[in-house]
Amino acid sequence: MAEIIKTRFTHKGEEFKEKSDVFETQIPADIMEQHTYIRIEKLHASVVRIAYLCDFPECCGIVSRWLYYNRNNNDIIPPNYENDPDYIRFHTGFTNNYRTKFPIRLIVISDKKCVGTVTLINNDFPGKRYGPWLGGLFVDAQYRNLGIGKLLLEEGIKIIKDLGCHELYLTTHTANRYYKRLGWQSYEFCKSDDGFDEEIFKINIT
Ligand SMILES: CC(C)(COP(=O)(O)OP(=O)(O)OC[C@H]1O[C@@H](n2cnc3c(N)ncnc32)[C@H](O)[C@@H]1OP(=O)(O)O)[C@@H](O)C(=O)NCCC(=O)NCCS
Repeated sequence: MAEIIKTRFTHKGEEFKEKSDVFETQIPADIMEQHTYIRIEKLHASVVRIAYLCDFPECCGIVSRWLYYNRNNNDIIPPNYENDPDYIRFHTGFTNNYRTKFPIRLIVISDKKCVGTVTLINNDFPGKRYGPWLGGLFVDAQYRNLGIGKLLLEEGIKIIKDLGCHELYLTTHTANRYYKRLGWQSYEFCKSDDGFDEEIFKINIT
């Protein structure tokens, strides 16, 4: 479904104009050459870009809200999130600025809008000594079933490979079938701190 046109997204010097999670960006032509462009046939904008979140700080707000409020898989960001002290605390400690060390956060941009994210992290499950881990996979509800989740997983695996790691883990209690279908193998069953029965998945990277 998705065709990768160019490899890894690296750019500097853009000018941004923020309007919530929608933004304008002007990217110099020479830098444009280096971007990852992916054609998604089902999407009307047709081309999406994968980027490091650290290159688009304007998107930190929407990404941290997705990750914070989707913890219980309810997909709802309350309108008064700016007055939610627990969210403010989460957002204040939210790290977004790495490319070559964890946590590395990726986003997908479609038509100047941030539509999905994933995080690569050293450890995502207390007490486990293996890693690295993939977590925080989220796609905006209006952009689901277009292959964007799969794309984020593929790009995450590519980055892990570039970092010299040979395996990647994740944990889920909601999307077990999703990961299985994309080649991840069941590795271990655990109980999370919140009491959920979690399945840990692993993928070998060659
Ligand atoms: C899970 C999620 C990231 C998938 O993203 P996406 O871009 O819609 O997924 P893709 O387009 O790559 O794949 C879509 C396919 O996966 C299936 N799928 C999506 N979520 C699924 C789930 N939780 N369990 C099983 N299958 C799922 C869809 O039904 C669709 O199947 P089809 O191809 O047969 O029609 C997205 O639904 C999401 O953000 N959900 C809320 C957050 C979440 O649950 N994250 C994972 C936590 S570990």
